[in-house]
Amino acid sequence: MKKMIKNGIIVTAADTYTGDVLIEDGIIAGIGLNLEAPGAEIIDASGCYVFPGGIDPHTHLDMPFGGTVTADDFETGTIAAAYGGTTTVIDFCLTTKGQPLQQAVDTWHHKSQDKAVIDYSFHLMVSELNDKVLSELPQIIENEGITSLKVFMAYKNTFQADDGVLYKTLQVAKREGALVMVHAENGDVIEYLVEQALAAGNTDPIYHALTRPPELEGEATGRAAYLTELTGSQLYVVHVTCAEAAWKIAEARRKGLRVYGETCPQYLVLDQTALEKPDFEGAKYVWSPPLREAWNQAVLWDALWSGALQTIGSDQCSFNFKGQKDLGLGDFSKIPNGGPTIEDRFSVLYSEGVQKGRISLNKFVDIISTSSAKLFGLFPQKGTIAVGSDADIVIFDPAVERTLSAETHHMNVDYNAFEGMEVKGEPVSVLIRGEFVIRDKQFVGKAGSGKYLHRKRFEAEAPRPSQAEISGGVV
Ligand code: URP
Ligand code: ZN
Ligand code: ZN
Ligand code: ZN
Repeated sequence: MKKMIKNGIIVTAADTYTGDVLIEDGIIAGIGLNLEAPGAEIIDASGCYVFPGGIDPHTHLDMPFGGTVTADDFETGTIAAAYGGTTTVIDFCLTTKGQPLQQAVDTWHHKSQDKAVIDYSFHLMVSELNDKVLSELPQIIENEGITSLKVFMAYKNTFQADDGVLYKTLQVAKREGALVMVHAENGDVIEYLVEQALAAGNTDPIYHALTRPPELEGEATGRAAYLTELTGSQLYVVHVTCAEAAWKIAEARRKGLRVYGETCPQYLVLDQTALEKPDFEGAKYVWSPPLREAWNQAVLWDALWSGALQTIGSDQCSFNFKGQKDLGLGDFSKIPNGGPTIEDRFSVLYSEGVQKGRISLNKFVDIISTSSAKLFGLFPQKGTIAVGSDADIVIFDPAVERTLSAETHHMNVDYNAFEGMEVKGEPVSVLIRGEFVIRDKQFVGKAGSGKYLHRKRFEAEAPRPSQAEISGGVV
């Protein structure tokens, strides 16, 4: 069945123009003015933007953490993502030391395959790099199309890997064409600061932020960037929160290194004072790294605008306030880390970014979709509106004004991180491979209809030509 989206304003990372989009067999088959397609279902997008579907490069669905499991799984999480204009998520597959990597990947396939309503892929966590892991990794990269590896530099005694593991992972990634992702915080020093705070009787949520100062994020980011330089590899720093870290990434990029960075909506619009809310409500705002002093927000917006940071991930990792976050009553270090953001990532960036003049419409598309597709081996199948690309499309009404709230959101969690925030713009309809998953603001998709995506290996955006290529073979 053919479909035609008519009269919308098509926006990609490069262009903005009025036109029609013809969809055939799930693929964009044509783009033009006044296209004719006899028998096609016509979808009127007058007054709306037609964006490529959002790509969320950072989610934790159905993930165990701190003695509990995230409130959203691959079904509720991807339904919420779809309502919010996201058509692809890349989730973190956790591994356990001593366990075969394939077993971990299979666990993640089982969590997702009959549940996801949008397309999805996995990053693979690396926590040790012994001979066994070294021999398994190339097969996982090849067979599963998992071309990004995650190393935690924090969460001592659980997820944290040491610098030797990071170094070796960077080496393997260079050889295999994978992108190394880091959670960059100095976990050893944090552990000491947490012990000291608890010993002094400082147990409230605000001490979560005070024991994870921005210097420790900047330090770890710089350390990872130097190890990347030393190995000639490539690095993607997840959830950048502060000037100290953003400046380290900008410095590495000025040197010509393949170092990339992501921030999240929460760091752009919320600040550390949220952790001081009374009646333990501050626990709702416990992320690692933590929310920062408000002045950092302008630094992050500038970093997105200038290209020092390229993407925005939600870092969706939802826990109910009642029954989960309260595991940390009387001890901030036991509050499960993370929040519900998958649904509002797209709209917060549009409203706070484009509507407030901080980024252009095309930059918005780049950050919310295109850059992630390119960095994580999905472009041009995903991440743009072009002939031959998957018809993953968001029809977005920029005129709607609404208030974000747990009353109206679709995430399976009892609070909204952006409660009461007024935003402009809303996804009206969302298509994945040419099929509606959201139609006129109603979910019409089906659990299990999302497809697992095998991704291509990492390609530098601008590979440097060899001397022979420059001189036409005459060196
Ligand atoms: O607080 C956070 N970010 N929770 C999710 C796990 C992680 O570190 O990304
Ligand atoms: Zn498999
Ligand atoms: Zn993290
Ligand atoms: Zn995360």
